[in-house]
Amino acid sequence: MAGRFPNQWLDELRQRADIVSVIGSYVQLKKNGHRYSGLCPFHNETAPSFSVDSQKQFYYCFGCKASGSVIQFIMDIEHLTFPEAVEYLANQLHLPLPEMQNDPAYEKRRSLKERIYLANKAAARLYHQYLWQAEGAEILQYLKKRGLSDGVIRRFGIGAAPGRPDVGKKLMDEGFTKEELLSAGLMMEREGRAFDMFRNRAMFPIIDAYGNVLGFGGRAMGDAMPKYLNTSDTPAFNKRYNVFAANLLRKARGLTRVILVEGYMDVVALSQYGVEGVAATLGTALTPEQARLLSRYAPEVHIAYDGDKAGQKAILKGLDILEEANVPAKVLDFPGGLDPDEFIRQEGLEAFQALKPISGVYYRMLREKEKHDMSTEEGRTAYAKACATFLQKVKEPVDLENYLKRLSLETGFDREVLLQQVGITPSRPVTTAPKRDSFRQKAREASGVDWTGRTLLAVLATGKLPKDSVSPEDFDDPTLRSLCQDLLAGESPAALMERQPDERGRAAIGDILSINTDMDDDGLMQMAKDCLKKLRRARLENELDKLQTSLPNLLPEDQPKAMQRALELTRLLSEQK
Ligand code: GTP
Ligand code: MN
Repeated sequence: MAGRFPNQWLDELRQRADIVSVIGSYVQLKKNGHRYSGLCPFHNETAPSFSVDSQKQFYYCFGCKASGSVIQFIMDIEHLTFPEAVEYLANQLHLPLPEMQNDPAYEKRRSLKERIYLANKAAARLYHQYLWQAEGAEILQYLKKRGLSDGVIRRFGIGAAPGRPDVGKKLMDEGFTKEELLSAGLMMEREGRAFDMFRNRAMFPIIDAYGNVLGFGGRAMGDAMPKYLNTSDTPAFNKRYNVFAANLLRKARGLTRVILVEGYMDVVALSQYGVEGVAATLGTALTPEQARLLSRYAPEVHIAYDGDKAGQKAILKGLDILEEANVPAKVLDFPGGLDPDEFIRQEGLEAFQALKPISGVYYRMLREKEKHDMSTEEGRTAYAKACATFLQKVKEPVDLENYLKRLSLETGFDREVLLQQVGITPSRPVTTAPKRDSFRQKAREASGVDWTGRTLLAVLATGKLPKDSVSPEDFDDPTLRSLCQDLLAGESPAALMERQPDERGRAAIGDILSINTDMDDDGLMQMAKDCLKKLRRARLENELDKLQTSLPNLLPEDQPKAMQRALELTRLLSEQK
Protein backbone atom coordinates (compact mmCIF):
# COMPACT_ATOMS: atom_id res chain seq x y z
CA MET A 1 0.00 0.00 0.00
CA ALA A 2 2.82 2.35 0.83
CA GLY A 3 4.71 1.53 -2.37
CA ARG A 4 4.19 4.92 -3.93
CA PHE A 5 6.11 6.72 -1.24
CA PRO A 6 9.61 5.72 -0.11
CA ASN A 7 9.54 4.15 3.36
CA GLN A 8 12.17 6.48 4.69
CA TRP A 9 10.16 9.46 3.60
CA LEU A 10 7.02 8.03 5.23
CA ASP A 11 8.95 7.51 8.46
CA GLU A 12 9.91 11.14 8.40
CA LEU A 13 6.32 12.16 7.75
CA ARG A 14 5.05 10.08 10.64
CA GLN A 15 7.70 11.48 12.95
CA ARG A 16 6.94 15.07 12.07
CA ALA A 17 3.21 14.56 12.18
CA ASP A 18 3.15 13.85 15.89
CA ILE A 19 0.08 11.68 16.32
CA VAL A 20 -0.98 13.28 19.57
CA SER A 21 -1.16 16.77 18.12
CA VAL A 22 -2.83 15.62 14.91
CA ILE A 23 -5.52 13.60 16.69
CA GLY A 24 -5.71 16.27 19.37
CA SER A 25 -7.11 18.69 16.84
CA TYR A 26 -10.10 16.37 16.33
CA VAL A 27 -10.49 14.76 19.74
CA GLN A 28 -10.05 16.20 23.19
CA LEU A 29 -7.27 14.12 24.73
CA LYS A 30 -6.23 13.69 28.33
CA LYS A 31 -2.66 12.74 29.18
CA ASN A 32 -2.03 9.61 31.16
CA GLY A 33 1.62 8.53 31.03
CA HIS A 34 2.68 7.79 27.45
CA ARG A 35 -0.94 7.51 26.56
CA TYR A 36 -3.65 9.97 25.90
CA SER A 37 -7.29 9.10 26.07
CA GLY A 38 -10.51 10.62 24.83
CA LEU A 39 -13.89 9.87 23.31
CA CYS A 40 -13.57 7.76 20.19
CA PRO A 41 -14.46 9.77 17.08
CA PHE A 42 -15.41 6.59 15.22
CA HIS A 43 -18.24 5.41 17.40
CA ASN A 44 -20.66 6.88 19.90
CA GLU A 45 -19.57 6.70 23.47
CA THR A 46 -19.84 8.58 26.71
CA ALA A 47 -16.82 7.14 28.53
CA PRO A 48 -13.43 7.41 26.81
CA SER A 49 -12.10 4.15 25.38
CA PHE A 50 -10.00 5.72 22.65
CA SER A 51 -6.29 5.86 23.37
CA VAL A 52 -3.36 7.42 21.58
CA ASP A 53 0.09 6.07 22.34
CA SER A 54 2.68 8.81 21.92
CA GLN A 55 5.57 6.40 22.29
CA LYS A 56 4.45 3.85 19.71
CA GLN A 57 2.67 6.50 17.64
CA PHE A 58 -0.59 4.71 17.08
CA TYR A 59 -4.17 4.92 18.28
CA TYR A 60 -6.46 2.15 19.41
CA CYS A 61 -10.07 2.11 20.53
CA PHE A 62 -10.88 -0.50 23.15
CA GLY A 63 -14.52 -0.10 22.20
CA CYS A 64 -14.79 -0.35 18.42
CA LYS A 65 -11.22 -1.55 17.77
CA ALA A 66 -10.47 1.30 15.38
CA SER A 67 -6.70 1.46 15.23
CA GLY A 68 -3.79 2.61 13.15
CA SER A 69 -1.10 5.16 12.51
CA VAL A 70 -1.55 8.88 12.12
CA ILE A 71 -2.05 8.34 8.39
CA GLN A 72 -4.82 5.83 9.01
CA PHE A 73 -6.49 8.30 11.33
CA ILE A 74 -6.53 10.99 8.65
CA MET A 75 -7.84 8.46 6.10
CA ASP A 76 -10.75 7.55 8.34
CA ILE A 77 -11.64 10.92 9.76
CA GLU A 78 -11.26 12.88 6.52
CA HIS A 79 -12.43 10.06 4.29
CA LEU A 80 -9.31 10.03 2.18
CA THR A 81 -7.40 7.27 0.43
CA PHE A 82 -3.90 6.43 1.64
CA PRO A 83 -2.06 8.64 -0.87
CA GLU A 84 -4.55 11.45 -0.31
CA ALA A 85 -4.07 11.28 3.46
CA VAL A 86 -0.29 11.28 3.02
CA GLU A 87 -0.49 14.34 0.82
CA TYR A 88 -2.88 16.00 3.23
CA LEU A 89 -0.46 15.55 6.13
CA ALA A 90 2.56 16.47 4.05
CA ASN A 91 0.86 19.69 3.02
CA GLN A 92 0.02 20.60 6.57
CA LEU A 93 3.60 19.99 7.66
CA HIS A 94 5.06 21.66 4.60
CA LEU A 95 6.98 18.50 3.90
CA PRO A 96 7.70 18.34 0.18
CA LEU A 97 6.33 15.24 -1.53
CA PRO A 98 8.99 12.90 -2.79
CA GLU A 99 9.43 12.72 -6.52
CA MET A 100 7.16 9.96 -7.67
CA GLN A 101 8.65 9.37 -11.09
CA ASN A 102 9.28 5.77 -10.07
CA ASP A 103 5.64 4.92 -10.49
CA PRO A 104 4.44 5.99 -13.91
CA ALA A 105 0.99 4.41 -13.45
CA TYR A 106 0.40 6.48 -10.36
CA GLU A 107 1.68 9.62 -12.01
CA LYS A 108 -0.63 9.01 -14.92
CA ARG A 109 -3.70 8.38 -12.80
CA ARG A 110 -2.91 11.35 -10.64
CA SER A 111 -2.41 13.66 -13.55
CA LEU A 112 -5.55 12.38 -15.27
CA LYS A 113 -7.50 13.12 -12.12
CA GLU A 114 -6.04 16.58 -11.97
CA ARG A 115 -6.74 17.14 -15.66
CA ILE A 116 -10.36 16.11 -15.09
CA TYR A 117 -10.68 18.59 -12.22
CA LEU A 118 -9.25 21.30 -14.43
CA ALA A 119 -11.51 20.41 -17.35
CA ASN A 120 -14.55 20.35 -15.09
CA LYS A 121 -13.67 23.70 -13.60
CA ALA A 122 -13.23 25.20 -17.06
CA ALA A 123 -16.52 23.64 -18.18
CA ALA A 124 -18.34 24.97 -15.12
CA ARG A 125 -17.05 28.44 -15.94
CA LEU A 126 -18.24 28.17 -19.56
CA TYR A 127 -21.68 26.87 -18.55
CA HIS A 128 -22.05 29.65 -16.02
CA GLN A 129 -21.10 32.29 -18.59
CA TYR A 130 -23.60 30.88 -21.07
CA LEU A 131 -26.38 31.29 -18.56
CA TRP A 132 -26.13 35.07 -18.82
CA GLN A 133 -25.84 35.06 -22.62
CA ALA A 134 -28.31 34.55 -25.43
CA GLU A 135 -27.43 30.82 -25.60
CA GLY A 136 -28.65 30.34 -22.05
CA ALA A 137 -31.65 32.67 -22.07
CA GLU A 138 -34.26 29.94 -22.02
CA ILE A 139 -32.51 28.14 -19.18
CA LEU A 140 -32.12 31.31 -17.13
CA GLN A 141 -35.82 31.96 -17.66
CA TYR A 142 -36.59 28.45 -16.41
CA LEU A 143 -34.51 28.94 -13.27
CA LYS A 144 -36.16 32.31 -12.65
CA LYS A 145 -39.57 30.76 -13.08
CA ARG A 146 -38.60 28.27 -10.37
CA GLY A 147 -37.83 31.20 -8.12
CA LEU A 148 -34.03 31.16 -8.07
CA SER A 149 -32.33 34.48 -7.34
CA ASP A 150 -29.18 35.68 -9.09
CA GLY A 151 -27.39 35.39 -5.76
CA VAL A 152 -28.15 31.71 -5.26
CA ILE A 153 -27.37 30.95 -8.92
CA ARG A 154 -23.92 32.45 -8.37
CA ARG A 155 -23.44 30.74 -5.00
CA PHE A 156 -23.94 27.33 -6.60
CA GLY A 157 -22.31 28.26 -9.90
CA ILE A 158 -25.36 27.05 -11.79
CA GLY A 159 -24.95 27.21 -15.55
CA ALA A 160 -26.50 26.44 -18.92
CA ALA A 161 -25.49 23.82 -21.44
CA PRO A 162 -26.74 25.37 -24.68
CA GLY A 163 -28.91 23.52 -27.19
CA ARG A 164 -26.18 23.79 -29.81
CA PRO A 165 -23.32 22.73 -27.64
CA ASP A 166 -19.70 23.67 -28.27
CA VAL A 167 -18.27 23.33 -24.78
CA GLY A 168 -16.21 20.28 -25.78
CA LYS A 169 -14.76 22.15 -28.71
CA LYS A 170 -13.98 25.20 -26.59
CA LEU A 171 -12.24 23.04 -24.00
CA MET A 172 -10.15 21.39 -26.72
CA ASP A 173 -9.19 24.86 -27.89
CA GLU A 174 -8.04 25.50 -24.32
CA GLY A 175 -5.72 22.49 -24.62
CA PHE A 176 -7.73 19.56 -23.22
CA THR A 177 -7.56 16.38 -25.26
CA LYS A 178 -10.57 14.45 -26.47
CA GLU A 179 -9.55 11.54 -24.23
CA GLU A 180 -9.46 13.79 -21.17
CA LEU A 181 -12.92 15.15 -21.94
CA LEU A 182 -14.27 11.64 -22.50
CA SER A 183 -12.76 10.50 -19.19
CA ALA A 184 -14.29 13.51 -17.44
CA GLY A 185 -17.71 12.58 -18.80
CA LEU A 186 -18.00 15.98 -20.44
CA MET A 187 -18.09 14.36 -23.88
CA MET A 188 -19.27 11.02 -25.19
CA GLU A 189 -18.27 9.12 -28.25
CA ARG A 190 -20.55 7.67 -30.90
CA GLU A 191 -19.26 6.05 -34.06
CA GLY A 192 -15.84 7.51 -33.55
CA ARG A 193 -17.10 11.05 -33.09
CA ALA A 194 -17.16 12.96 -29.83
CA PHE A 195 -20.21 14.95 -28.74
CA ASP A 196 -20.97 17.13 -25.75
CA MET A 197 -22.63 15.08 -23.02
CA PHE A 198 -24.91 17.91 -21.92
CA ARG A 199 -27.25 19.87 -24.15
CA ASN A 200 -30.04 22.24 -23.30
CA ARG A 201 -29.82 21.59 -19.59
CA ALA A 202 -29.48 23.66 -16.41
CA MET A 203 -26.09 22.64 -15.05
CA PHE A 204 -25.42 22.05 -11.34
CA PRO A 205 -21.70 21.59 -10.68
CA ILE A 206 -20.94 18.98 -8.01
CA ILE A 207 -18.13 20.41 -5.90
CA ASP A 208 -16.27 18.61 -3.12
CA ALA A 209 -15.11 20.04 0.20
CA TYR A 210 -11.80 21.08 -1.33
CA GLY A 211 -13.42 23.02 -4.16
CA ASN A 212 -12.77 20.44 -6.89
CA VAL A 213 -15.51 20.21 -9.51
CA LEU A 214 -16.20 16.48 -9.58
CA GLY A 215 -18.95 16.43 -12.18
CA PHE A 216 -22.36 17.83 -13.03
CA GLY A 217 -26.04 17.25 -12.64
CA GLY A 218 -27.84 18.51 -15.73
CA ARG A 219 -31.56 19.21 -15.40
CA ALA A 220 -33.63 18.96 -18.55
CA MET A 221 -35.94 21.77 -19.60
CA GLY A 222 -39.59 20.99 -19.08
CA ASP A 223 -40.44 17.32 -19.34
CA ALA A 224 -37.54 16.20 -21.51
CA MET A 225 -36.06 12.86 -20.42
CA PRO A 226 -34.12 11.95 -18.47
CA LYS A 227 -35.02 14.70 -16.01
CA TYR A 228 -31.49 14.70 -14.66
CA LEU A 229 -28.40 13.64 -16.49
CA ASN A 230 -25.62 13.12 -13.96
CA THR A 231 -21.94 12.63 -14.72
CA SER A 232 -21.23 8.90 -14.33
CA ASP A 233 -18.39 7.82 -12.09
CA THR A 234 -15.00 8.85 -13.48
CA PRO A 235 -11.39 8.51 -12.27
CA ALA A 236 -12.08 11.75 -10.34
CA PHE A 237 -15.63 11.11 -9.17
CA ASN A 238 -17.32 8.38 -7.19
CA LYS A 239 -20.93 8.99 -6.24
CA ARG A 240 -20.71 6.74 -3.21
CA TYR A 241 -18.23 9.00 -1.48
CA ASN A 242 -19.57 12.44 -2.29
CA VAL A 243 -22.58 14.63 -1.76
CA PHE A 244 -23.94 17.69 -3.49
CA ALA A 245 -22.91 20.99 -1.82
CA ALA A 246 -20.04 19.52 0.24
CA ASN A 247 -18.16 22.75 -0.46
CA LEU A 248 -20.81 24.80 1.36
CA LEU A 249 -21.06 22.26 4.19
CA ARG A 250 -17.39 22.65 4.90
CA LYS A 251 -17.73 26.42 5.11
CA ALA A 252 -20.68 26.34 7.50
CA ARG A 253 -19.67 26.69 11.14
CA GLY A 254 -21.29 25.42 14.29
CA LEU A 255 -23.97 23.35 12.59
CA THR A 256 -26.22 21.48 14.99
CA ARG A 257 -27.50 19.20 12.22
CA VAL A 258 -26.97 18.48 8.54
CA ILE A 259 -30.18 18.40 6.52
CA LEU A 260 -30.12 15.68 3.92
CA VAL A 261 -32.46 16.21 0.96
CA GLU A 262 -33.05 14.29 -2.25
CA GLY A 263 -32.74 16.90 -4.94
CA TYR A 264 -30.24 19.52 -6.04
CA MET A 265 -33.16 21.94 -6.33
CA ASP A 266 -34.02 21.34 -2.68
CA VAL A 267 -30.50 22.24 -1.58
CA VAL A 268 -30.56 25.39 -3.68
CA ALA A 269 -34.01 26.52 -2.51
CA LEU A 270 -33.22 26.01 1.19
CA SER A 271 -29.95 27.84 0.76
CA GLN A 272 -31.72 30.73 -0.92
CA TYR A 273 -34.03 31.04 2.07
CA GLY A 274 -31.08 31.07 4.44
CA VAL A 275 -31.00 27.45 5.65
CA GLU A 276 -27.36 26.39 6.04
CA GLY A 277 -25.88 22.92 6.19
CA VAL A 278 -27.96 21.17 3.54
CA ALA A 279 -26.66 18.42 1.26
CA ALA A 280 -28.08 15.92 -1.20
CA THR A 281 -27.00 12.53 -2.44
CA LEU A 282 -26.12 12.30 -6.11
CA GLY A 283 -29.18 10.66 -7.57
CA THR A 284 -28.54 7.36 -5.78
CA ALA A 285 -29.57 5.95 -2.40
CA LEU A 286 -27.61 7.07 0.67
CA THR A 287 -24.42 5.05 1.22
CA PRO A 288 -22.59 4.34 4.51
CA GLU A 289 -19.68 6.38 3.20
CA GLN A 290 -21.92 9.39 2.68
CA ALA A 291 -23.41 8.89 6.14
CA ARG A 292 -19.95 9.15 7.69
CA LEU A 293 -19.02 12.06 5.47
CA LEU A 294 -22.09 13.98 6.69
CA SER A 295 -21.36 13.11 10.31
CA ARG A 296 -18.15 15.13 10.05
CA TYR A 297 -20.07 18.36 9.80
CA ALA A 298 -22.67 18.09 12.56
CA PRO A 299 -23.66 15.80 15.42
CA GLU A 300 -26.86 14.63 13.72
CA VAL A 301 -28.43 14.27 10.32
CA HIS A 302 -32.02 15.24 9.57
CA ILE A 303 -33.49 13.45 6.61
CA ALA A 304 -35.74 15.77 4.63
CA TYR A 305 -36.81 13.75 1.62
CA ASP A 306 -39.94 14.23 -0.44
CA GLY A 307 -43.15 13.35 1.35
CA ASP A 308 -44.34 10.99 -1.41
CA LYS A 309 -44.36 7.19 -1.21
CA ALA A 310 -40.93 6.78 -2.79
CA GLY A 311 -39.54 9.40 -0.43
CA GLN A 312 -41.00 7.63 2.61
CA LYS A 313 -39.38 4.38 1.60
CA ALA A 314 -36.07 6.13 1.05
CA ILE A 315 -36.33 7.71 4.52
CA LEU A 316 -36.64 4.29 6.16
CA LYS A 317 -33.61 3.04 4.21
CA GLY A 318 -31.70 6.21 5.06
CA LEU A 319 -32.43 5.81 8.77
CA ASP A 320 -31.07 2.26 8.64
CA ILE A 321 -27.89 3.39 6.90
CA LEU A 322 -27.30 6.29 9.29
CA GLU A 323 -27.98 4.23 12.38
CA GLU A 324 -25.74 1.47 11.16
CA ALA A 325 -22.98 4.05 10.72
CA ASN A 326 -23.70 5.27 14.27
CA VAL A 327 -24.86 8.66 13.06
CA PRO A 328 -27.79 10.02 15.07
CA ALA A 329 -30.66 10.64 12.66
CA LYS A 330 -34.04 12.33 12.67
CA VAL A 331 -36.69 12.98 10.06
CA LEU A 332 -38.31 16.16 8.84
CA ASP A 333 -41.74 15.15 7.64
CA PHE A 334 -43.43 17.49 5.17
CA PRO A 335 -47.20 17.63 5.06
CA GLY A 336 -49.06 16.86 1.87
CA GLY A 337 -46.28 15.07 0.02
CA LEU A 338 -44.38 18.32 -0.54
CA ASP A 339 -40.63 18.35 -1.08
CA PRO A 340 -38.42 20.83 0.83
CA ASP A 341 -38.21 23.14 -2.19
CA GLU A 342 -41.99 23.37 -2.53
CA PHE A 343 -42.52 23.59 1.21
CA ILE A 344 -40.21 26.50 1.87
CA ARG A 345 -41.49 28.43 -1.14
CA GLN A 346 -45.12 27.95 -0.08
CA GLU A 347 -44.75 28.26 3.67
CA GLY A 348 -41.60 30.30 4.16
CA LEU A 349 -38.50 30.03 6.34
CA GLU A 350 -40.26 30.33 9.67
CA ALA A 351 -42.59 27.45 8.94
CA PHE A 352 -39.61 25.40 7.84
CA GLN A 353 -37.71 26.16 11.01
CA ALA A 354 -40.77 25.39 13.08
CA LEU A 355 -40.93 21.82 11.74
CA LYS A 356 -40.15 19.47 14.56
CA PRO A 357 -37.65 16.75 13.67
CA ILE A 358 -39.05 13.33 14.46
CA SER A 359 -36.88 10.61 15.98
CA GLY A 360 -36.09 7.62 13.80
CA VAL A 361 -38.06 5.29 16.04
CA TYR A 362 -41.13 7.48 16.10
CA TYR A 363 -40.96 7.87 12.33
CA ARG A 364 -40.88 4.10 11.91
CA MET A 365 -43.86 3.81 14.22
CA LEU A 366 -45.82 6.36 12.18
CA ARG A 367 -45.13 4.52 8.94
CA GLU A 368 -45.92 1.17 10.54
CA LYS A 369 -49.26 2.38 11.86
CA GLU A 370 -50.47 3.12 8.33
CA LYS A 371 -50.11 -0.55 7.48
CA HIS A 372 -52.58 -1.76 10.10
CA ASP A 373 -56.27 -1.47 10.76
CA MET A 374 -56.06 -0.08 14.26
CA SER A 375 -59.76 -0.55 14.85
CA THR A 376 -59.26 -4.33 15.11
CA GLU A 377 -57.48 -6.35 17.76
CA GLU A 378 -55.38 -8.11 15.10
CA GLY A 379 -54.29 -4.77 13.70
CA ARG A 380 -53.28 -3.37 17.08
CA THR A 381 -51.47 -6.58 18.00
CA ALA A 382 -49.49 -6.72 14.78
CA TYR A 383 -48.66 -3.04 15.16
CA ALA A 384 -47.45 -3.55 18.74
CA LYS A 385 -45.24 -6.46 17.70
CA ALA A 386 -43.68 -4.50 14.88
CA CYS A 387 -43.05 -1.50 17.10
CA ALA A 388 -41.43 -3.70 19.74
CA THR A 389 -38.68 -4.53 17.26
CA PHE A 390 -38.03 -0.82 16.69
CA LEU A 391 -37.92 -0.19 20.43
CA GLN A 392 -35.18 -2.75 20.95
CA LYS A 393 -32.75 -0.27 19.47
CA VAL A 394 -33.57 2.51 21.92
CA LYS A 395 -30.59 2.96 24.19
CA GLU A 396 -31.85 5.58 26.62
CA PRO A 397 -34.29 4.24 29.24
CA VAL A 398 -36.20 7.54 29.38
CA ASP A 399 -36.71 7.53 25.63
CA LEU A 400 -37.90 3.94 25.82
CA GLU A 401 -40.35 4.93 28.54
CA ASN A 402 -41.83 7.66 26.34
CA TYR A 403 -42.31 5.30 23.43
CA LEU A 404 -43.83 2.63 25.65
CA LYS A 405 -46.34 5.12 27.01
CA ARG A 406 -47.33 6.19 23.53
CA LEU A 407 -47.55 2.63 22.27
CA SER A 408 -49.63 1.65 25.27
CA LEU A 409 -52.09 4.47 24.52
CA GLU A 410 -52.26 3.50 20.86
CA THR A 411 -52.74 -0.22 21.36
CA GLY A 412 -54.30 -0.60 24.79
CA PHE A 413 -51.61 -3.06 25.93
CA ASP A 414 -50.09 -2.57 29.38
CA ARG A 415 -46.70 -0.95 29.50
CA GLU A 416 -45.34 -4.10 31.22
CA VAL A 417 -46.61 -6.37 28.48
CA LEU A 418 -45.10 -4.16 25.82
CA LEU A 419 -41.79 -4.10 27.65
CA GLN A 420 -41.82 -7.87 27.74
CA GLN A 421 -42.55 -7.93 24.02
CA VAL A 422 -39.56 -5.67 23.44
CA GLY A 423 -37.44 -8.10 25.43
CA ILE A 424 -38.47 -11.24 23.59
CA THR A 425 -38.82 -10.09 20.01
CA PRO A 426 -36.12 -12.15 18.38
CA SER A 427 -35.70 -10.55 15.01
CA ARG A 428 -33.02 -8.00 15.91
CA PRO A 429 -30.21 -7.62 18.41
CA VAL A 430 -30.80 -5.04 21.13
CA THR A 431 -28.40 -2.57 19.62
CA THR A 432 -27.02 -2.59 16.14
CA ALA A 433 -23.31 -2.44 16.67
CA PRO A 434 -21.29 -1.25 13.70
CA LYS A 435 -20.53 -4.14 11.38
CA ARG A 436 -16.80 -3.80 11.59
CA ASP A 437 -16.92 -4.72 15.26
CA SER A 438 -17.98 -8.24 14.56
CA PHE A 439 -15.23 -9.07 12.16
CA ARG A 440 -12.65 -7.38 14.32
CA GLN A 441 -13.85 -9.49 17.16
CA LYS A 442 -13.53 -12.60 15.02
CA ALA A 443 -10.08 -11.58 13.88
CA ARG A 444 -9.06 -11.30 17.47
CA GLU A 445 -10.40 -14.68 18.37
CA ALA A 446 -9.00 -16.33 15.28
CA SER A 447 -5.52 -14.98 15.82
CA GLY A 448 -5.58 -16.86 19.13
CA VAL A 449 -2.48 -15.07 20.33
CA ASP A 450 -1.41 -15.86 23.83
CA TRP A 451 -1.20 -13.16 26.42
CA THR A 452 2.45 -13.63 27.34
CA GLY A 453 3.66 -13.48 23.77
CA ARG A 454 1.58 -10.42 23.15
CA THR A 455 2.92 -8.69 26.21
CA LEU A 456 6.49 -9.43 25.17
CA LEU A 457 5.82 -8.01 21.74
CA ALA A 458 4.27 -4.87 23.21
CA VAL A 459 7.39 -4.37 25.30
CA LEU A 460 9.59 -4.94 22.26
CA ALA A 461 7.57 -2.33 20.34
CA THR A 462 8.61 0.37 22.82
CA GLY A 463 12.09 0.11 21.27
CA LYS A 464 13.57 0.05 24.77
CA LEU A 465 14.91 -3.52 24.79
CA PRO A 466 18.43 -4.42 23.72
CA LYS A 467 18.25 -5.97 20.23
CA ASP A 468 19.53 -9.39 21.22
CA SER A 469 17.26 -9.87 24.21
CA VAL A 470 14.39 -11.25 22.12
CA SER A 471 14.37 -13.34 18.98
CA PRO A 472 11.57 -14.45 16.62
CA GLU A 473 12.07 -18.04 17.81
CA ASP A 474 10.75 -17.00 21.20
CA PHE A 475 7.27 -16.91 19.67
CA ASP A 476 5.33 -19.98 18.64
CA ASP A 477 2.44 -18.04 17.16
CA PRO A 478 3.33 -17.31 13.51
CA THR A 479 1.67 -13.87 13.62
CA LEU A 480 3.67 -12.82 16.65
CA ARG A 481 6.81 -14.31 15.21
CA SER A 482 6.63 -12.31 12.03
CA LEU A 483 5.72 -9.15 13.91
CA CYS A 484 8.79 -9.69 16.06
CA GLN A 485 10.91 -10.08 12.95
CA ASP A 486 9.61 -6.80 11.55
CA LEU A 487 10.12 -4.90 14.78
CA LEU A 488 13.67 -6.25 15.12
CA ALA A 489 14.31 -5.19 11.54
CA GLY A 490 13.60 -1.64 12.66
CA GLU A 491 10.02 -1.11 11.50
CA SER A 492 7.96 1.21 13.66
CA PRO A 493 4.64 -0.02 15.07
CA ALA A 494 2.85 2.66 13.06
CA ALA A 495 4.50 1.51 9.80
CA LEU A 496 3.59 -2.08 10.62
CA MET A 497 -0.04 -1.13 10.99
CA GLU A 498 -0.04 0.75 7.73
CA ARG A 499 1.26 -2.29 5.91
CA GLN A 500 -1.81 -4.28 6.87
CA PRO A 501 -4.21 -4.73 3.99
CA ASP A 502 -7.35 -4.18 6.08
CA GLU A 503 -8.72 -3.04 9.40
CA ARG A 504 -8.79 -6.61 10.57
CA GLY A 505 -5.01 -6.78 10.44
CA ARG A 506 -4.61 -3.37 12.02
CA ALA A 507 -6.99 -4.20 14.83
CA ALA A 508 -5.07 -7.40 15.55
CA ILE A 509 -1.83 -5.45 15.87
CA GLY A 510 -3.51 -2.61 17.77
CA ASP A 511 -4.92 -5.17 20.14
CA ILE A 512 -1.47 -6.57 20.86
CA LEU A 513 0.44 -3.34 21.05
CA SER A 514 -2.14 -1.59 23.21
CA ILE A 515 -1.11 -3.69 26.20
CA ASN A 516 0.05 -1.17 28.74
CA THR A 517 3.83 -0.77 28.76
CA ASP A 518 3.87 2.48 30.63
CA MET A 519 6.84 1.95 32.98
CA ASP A 520 10.49 2.83 33.29
CA ASP A 521 13.21 1.01 31.38
CA ASP A 522 14.07 -1.33 34.24
CA GLY A 523 10.45 -2.26 34.58
CA LEU A 524 10.25 -3.01 30.88
CA MET A 525 13.38 -5.19 31.04
CA GLN A 526 11.93 -7.13 33.94
CA MET A 527 8.62 -7.55 32.17
CA ALA A 528 10.41 -8.87 29.08
CA LYS A 529 12.43 -11.33 31.17
CA ASP A 530 9.31 -12.64 32.88
CA CYS A 531 7.59 -13.13 29.57
CA LEU A 532 10.57 -14.89 28.02
CA LYS A 533 10.80 -17.23 30.96
CA LYS A 534 7.14 -18.10 30.72
CA LEU A 535 7.33 -18.63 26.99
CA ARG A 536 10.39 -20.85 27.20
CA ARG A 537 8.83 -22.87 29.95
CA ALA A 538 5.66 -23.30 27.96
CA ARG A 539 7.69 -24.50 25.01
CA LEU A 540 9.58 -27.08 27.07
CA GLU A 541 6.35 -28.32 28.63
CA ASN A 542 4.80 -28.59 25.25
CA GLU A 543 7.66 -30.63 23.84
CA LEU A 544 7.69 -32.92 26.84
CA ASP A 545 3.97 -33.43 26.53
CA LYS A 546 4.22 -34.44 22.91
CA LEU A 547 7.16 -36.69 23.59
CA GLN A 548 5.36 -38.53 26.36
CA THR A 549 2.27 -39.22 24.27
CA SER A 550 4.33 -40.42 21.30
CA LEU A 551 6.75 -42.59 23.29
CA PRO A 552 4.69 -45.82 23.27
CA ASN A 553 4.32 -45.62 19.46
CA LEU A 554 8.00 -45.16 18.67
CA LEU A 555 10.15 -47.86 17.09
CA PRO A 556 12.28 -49.63 19.73
CA GLU A 557 15.52 -48.23 18.29
CA ASP A 558 14.21 -44.62 18.59
CA GLN A 559 13.07 -44.98 22.17
CA PRO A 560 16.37 -44.46 24.04
CA LYS A 561 16.97 -41.14 22.28
CA ALA A 562 13.46 -39.96 23.08
CA MET A 563 13.82 -41.01 26.71
CA GLN A 564 17.03 -39.08 26.96
CA ARG A 565 15.41 -35.94 25.55
CA ALA A 566 12.49 -36.34 27.97
CA LEU A 567 14.89 -36.49 30.89
CA GLU A 568 16.74 -33.45 29.61
CA LEU A 569 13.48 -31.54 29.30
CA THR A 570 12.49 -32.51 32.82
CA ARG A 571 15.84 -31.28 34.09
CA LEU A 572 15.57 -27.98 32.20
CA LEU A 573 12.11 -27.46 33.60
CA SER A 574 13.13 -28.09 37.17
CA GLU A 575 16.09 -25.72 36.74
CA GLN A 576 13.71 -23.03 35.61
CA LYS A 577 11.72 -23.06 38.80
P1 GTP B 1 -36.90 19.22 -9.67
O1 GTP B 1 -37.79 18.16 -10.16
O2 GTP B 1 -36.40 20.09 -10.77
O3 GTP B 1 -37.44 19.98 -8.50
O4 GTP B 1 -35.56 18.52 -9.19
P2 GTP B 1 -35.15 17.92 -7.79
O5 GTP B 1 -33.75 18.34 -7.56
O6 GTP B 1 -36.15 18.22 -6.74
O7 GTP B 1 -35.12 16.37 -8.11
P3 GTP B 1 -36.05 15.16 -7.65
O8 GTP B 1 -36.51 15.35 -6.26
O9 GTP B 1 -37.04 14.88 -8.70
O10 GTP B 1 -34.96 14.01 -7.72
C1 GTP B 1 -33.98 13.93 -6.70
C2 GTP B 1 -32.63 13.69 -7.29
O11 GTP B 1 -32.64 12.46 -7.97
C3 GTP B 1 -32.18 14.71 -8.31
O12 GTP B 1 -31.59 15.85 -7.77
C4 GTP B 1 -31.20 13.89 -9.12
O13 GTP B 1 -29.95 13.80 -8.44
C5 GTP B 1 -31.84 12.52 -9.12
N1 GTP B 1 -32.65 12.30 -10.31
C6 GTP B 1 -33.90 12.73 -10.56
N2 GTP B 1 -34.30 12.36 -11.78
C7 GTP B 1 -33.29 11.67 -12.32
C8 GTP B 1 -33.08 11.03 -13.58
O14 GTP B 1 -33.93 11.02 -14.46
N3 GTP B 1 -31.87 10.40 -13.76
C9 GTP B 1 -30.92 10.40 -12.80
N4 GTP B 1 -29.76 9.78 -13.03
N5 GTP B 1 -31.08 11.01 -11.61
C10 GTP B 1 -32.24 11.64 -11.37
MN1 MN C 1 -38.08 19.06 -6.65
